[in-house]
Amino acid sequence: MAIISSQQPAHPPNSGQAGDRPAPPPPPKSERGPVISLVRNTPESSDKAVEESLRPQRIRDYIGQKALKEVLDIAIQAAKSRQEPLDHLLLYGPPGLGKTTMALILAQEMGVSCKITTAPALERPRDIAGLLVNLKPGDVLFIDEIHRLPRVTEEILYPAMEDARLDITIGKGQSARTRSLPLQPFTLVGATTRVGALTSPLRDRFGLIQRLRFYEVDELTDIVLRTAQVLNTPVQPDGAAEIARRARGTPRIANRLLKRVRDFVEVKASGSVTEAIAAEALELFNVDPCGLDWTDRRLLTVMIENFSGGPVGLDTMAAATGEDAQTIEEVYEPYLMQIGYLQRTPRGRVVTPAACRHLGYDSQTLQPQDSSNGQLSLME
Ligand code: ADE
Repeated sequence: MAIISSQQPAHPPNSGQAGDRPAPPPPPKSERGPVISLVRNTPESSDKAVEESLRPQRIRDYIGQKALKEVLDIAIQAAKSRQEPLDHLLLYGPPGLGKTTMALILAQEMGVSCKITTAPALERPRDIAGLLVNLKPGDVLFIDEIHRLPRVTEEILYPAMEDARLDITIGKGQSARTRSLPLQPFTLVGATTRVGALTSPLRDRFGLIQRLRFYEVDELTDIVLRTAQVLNTPVQPDGAAEIARRARGTPRIANRLLKRVRDFVEVKASGSVTEAIAAEALELFNVDPCGLDWTDRRLLTVMIENFSGGPVGLDTMAAATGEDAQTIEEVYEPYLMQIGYLQRTPRGRVVTPAACRHLGYDSQTLQPQDSSNGQLSLME
């Protein structure tokens, strides 16, 4: 079972207010270290350490998600003044928007540790039991992909969440006995891309259910500038904005694109990242001005060319493109819908006129208008 544990903060948490700042915060040196303790020193683990150093450590450093931060800031202050753990929290939304980061921040703000695991790793009752009995008072237990929890594990969580109690069954058949062990009160933070796939008994046990939304371009610009500072990469504000525009509203993608642009600058150019350099680099990596990549364009193009723009069912799309249906639904579609390029209707998915125009098709006839557009880049 893969469990990673955050370090205990060196100092008691302060009660910093949530709120957006005009400029990205320069991350203090003392807070740049990796939050998650890594076990081995392999190239993979040092990559992870870099990833971890990019995460904001406190709620005041977290850019964007203003409404979420306000809700959580109140919950943190209230829980602290009552000297109680935070209520259980369910975070949902597309991947890469900062659910894990927020769980780590909550632990940091509350002055407790955060244990991180993922639902598919909690296969057997003893996996979750082992985690629960080792929690210290108020600790945060973060379970990613919580909609994938096996039934037996989920049922162990119910009394644990409600009464800080672990009910274990000893023996089998008629001689089976249930024993209850007291647990330390803790906060479960569940993360999911599919809130509708949670069972209602599990969903109902969360005191707070919060959605993470896609980020605005100016928020992503600030995130790119902050990450560039951590990575020691000189980036002009217009270069950061160009990366932000192509990042699909997602910090994880913005940071990934920044690293590709940094490679490009190191090899092909010199100096700092400007708008023109960022655009040239990202064209090379097949990320278009709206942030669509090869797969996005292929999904839309197949719908236009093979299914007259839709409606077309998800499974049919998966079969026609060779992409996994769940990946289409959870990774690609949310952003295409957000920018108004795709609609989900009761009869299936439909491409919008805006998507047709972006890909260089006439939105009425669905005929290609110009061969130097998005259709061509599908051939690359
Ligand atoms: N890095 C990734 N996501 C971030 C966020 N929301 N705020 C600041 N830095 C980030």
